Order: sequence, then structure tokens, then C-alpha cells
Amino acid sequence: MNVNDLRFPADFVWGVATASYQIEGAVDEDGRGPSIWDTFASSPGNIDDGATGAVACDHYHRWEQDLDLMKRLGLNGYRFSIAWPRVIPSGDGAVNQAGLDFYERLVDGLLERGIAPFATLYHWDLPQPLQDAGGWPQRGTVDAFVAYADAVTRRLGDRVAFYATMNEPWCASFLGYVLGQHAPGLRDHRLGLRASHHLLLAHGSAMEVLRANAPGSRHGIVLNLNPAHPASPAPADRAAAERFDGFFNRWFLDPLLRGSYPDDAWRGYGDAVPTIEDGDLATISRPLDFLGVNYYSRAIVADDANVPWPAVRGLPPKGTPTEMGWEVYPQGLTEVLLRLQREYELPPIYLAENGAAYRDELKNGSVDDSERVSFLEQHIAALHEAMVHGVDVRGYFAWSLMDNFEWGHGFEKRFGLVYVDYETQARIPKRSASWYAGLIAQQRGAKGAVRS
Ligand code: FCB
Repeated sequence: MNVNDLRFPADFVWGVATASYQIEGAVDEDGRGPSIWDTFASSPGNIDDGATGAVACDHYHRWEQDLDLMKRLGLNGYRFSIAWPRVIPSGDGAVNQAGLDFYERLVDGLLERGIAPFATLYHWDLPQPLQDAGGWPQRGTVDAFVAYADAVTRRLGDRVAFYATMNEPWCASFLGYVLGQHAPGLRDHRLGLRASHHLLLAHGSAMEVLRANAPGSRHGIVLNLNPAHPASPAPADRAAAERFDGFFNRWFLDPLLRGSYPDDAWRGYGDAVPTIEDGDLATISRPLDFLGVNYYSRAIVADDANVPWPAVRGLPPKGTPTEMGWEVYPQGLTEVLLRLQREYELPPIYLAENGAAYRDELKNGSVDDSERVSFLEQHIAALHEAMVHGVDVRGYFAWSLMDNFEWGHGFEKRFGLVYVDYETQARIPKRSASWYAGLIAQQRGAKGAVRS
């Protein structure tokens, strides 16, 4: 397979993605308040290498050079996130105009370079004062999010082509409130389930405000989806895979696209389920203009009655995994997309994140990341395969533009197409960056429609 032989639509979006806390740094500047990630990263033991995002890629000061780099790569889309604590430092109080100024410069800079802005409103940096008041498990956080979405869209309006309310609510709720691996680092099933409901409700509630303030933009949400495969053909393992699917995928897909939580998960959680008020599910399932899908790998699971619902145990990955320990499983991307098409009424899809961490080394001024090139090639081909089968995919965003603060792993895991030397903040495009630029140029020249 050679991706250069495949044809994507002429107006396909070829982009890269980043997130505010992972790249910006400048955590104390221009009135930004603390977020749960500042707090979490500064408590010893939470981040593998003891790092924080205080400086990260210093993108807050180097954004112009980073946009120039994107332009040189030929990108026509950039997915970034807006830091809530820059815009409303207290979480639900006064708007900090200086915070909005930064994103206005960024958005205008993208437009000047012919790159469509895709803004995510929540990529996990909740203002700390809101967490002090209970965080996502508190229903009041929903209203605070709507006020924040209002402030952003009043200023940026439809200069931002695409607004995504949330990135990966599964991670924000389960990794943050149940498994303790992400901020705020809590371990409580009930809190996590309440957080997940309020993240979805905040998404749905904000949709109305986004449409009013930015009627010319497209509005949606981004989910991370993993196909769940049984460890063996035994009925118990098959049932385990089905439960994992409910826990990871359907818990978010069903309320958004069907207006109901999946029965198996609802029953499985017993009395830990969140309180749902009248109208919540109607709000959550308001129509989407697009669904963003993040795809990295699959899950292989076995039945395990000793752990709480979904009562499964994950198996080690097959083959040579990436540095994250994640299996390279491109066919899972085709599978996920075909499944969405078969089981749901879908809006257009954007592949909002896909990529891999590898042990990149800078040698004589360059990084030969051939494993990443192969990863991207296989996944872009898998995406194309889904399109050939009729899935309406409008764009692909590689994670990530450049190496950055990889949450609990700090700076040890490098996902970038561009290498970052954190001592000097030099940006050094890896081989994957030139490969991606080449693919984009070739597709643009070919002016194709989907065909294999
Ligand atoms: C996703 C996150 C993103 C990045 C990648 C590797 O879950 O959305 O910020 O950390 O994983």
C-alpha cells in the first residue's frame, strides 16, 4: 500500500492538533489563573519525569514561528485548544480580555496563512477555583462552562471555522476522577460518572450559545474511541469486550447521538449512576455539525469478576507497541468508523487526533522517525478505506504538530512531527514532517475525489 496512490477529496482538511496546557507555557502571564493541571503536575509523583507545563514549548511566545512552520508544511487546518483559565481565571467570574487577545492573534494569524482554525474549548485545563468548588461532578460547572463558551465565541465568532466543546470526555472524567491518572487525580467511581454526565451536559448546553454567537461556524465534540476485542472466543470474554465497549465508547456515543445512556452500562454501574434531570438528555443530544474522532489503538480485554463494572482486565498489546505501550492497529480505525456508520445517524466526521510516540533521537541535526511515518501511512490508508465504504470523513489531524507535555508522562513521550529541543526551544522537523508535507502537496496537486 502506498498512500500516495490513494485519492482524497480536493477540499479535505490536512491538519495537526495540539492542546493549550501541552504547548503554551506562560502559566502566570497576562492574567492566566491556575488550572487543575498546574496543581496536579506540581504535586510530586503525579508526572513521570516530575515536569510541569509551566514552560512546555513556550508556544505562548513563539506562536508566530509555529504558525509559519505549519504554513511551510502546507497544512490547511490547525486544531488547538483554548485555555479556560486564561479567559476566565476564576472559572466563573470576570472575563480576562488579555487572555482572549492571545487567541484572537492566533486565529487571525492562522487565517492570514490560509489555515482553518479548529478550536477546542475544553482540553482538560479546568480553572482550579472550579475544582475547589467540586469540579465536574458539580452541576454548577456546566453553567460556568456555558459562560466561558459565550465569552470565547463573542470575541472570536465565526473566524473560527470549527468549535469543539470537549476533547475526550472519557479521559476528563475517568482518568481524572476514577483512575487518578490525570488531574484532578481523584479515585471515586461516583464522582467520575457525575463528571461524565456534566461534561456531556456542558457540551449540549454550550451548543446553543455557540450557534447564536458563531452562526457561520460548525459545532461539535471530539471523542476518543477504541474498538474492544475479546481476549479469547470464550463467551465470557466476548461479553467482557461488549461491556468495555459500553464503558468506553457507548457511554458517550449513545447520549450524544441517541439521547440515552446504554442500558448495560447503566445497570452495571448500579447505584453509582449520575442523577439526570428532566431535559438533560435532550440537551446532550442536540444535533452536531461534526463528530471528531480520536483514534490511537484498540483494547483487548478478558472477563474479570474481581474488579468493578465493566469487570474486565486489559491484555498486553500484540506486536511491537509504540512508546506509550499501545498496539499499532490501523485496521481498528476502519472498524470504528464503519461501526459508527452502521449503528448511528452520523454528522460528518473529522479524524481529530491520530499519532504515535516513539523514541526519537536527534542525530546530526535530524530525526529519522521512520516508525512514525509508517504509523501515519497505515492509519491514513485505514481512514481512506472507511471513506471508500461511504463514511463521510472531511479531515485528518496528526497528533501532534510538535513534541509536547504528554500529561502524566511529562516530556518523556514524543508525539511530534516536529522535534522540540526543550533546552533551546528549537523546532526541528522530523522525517515524518517532510513526509506529511509531501503527501499534502501531492494530494492537493492530484485534486481527487475518493477512490482507491
Ligand atoms: C489524547 C489527548 C492528547 C494527547 C494524545 C496522545 O488522549 O487528547 O492531548 O495527549 O492522547
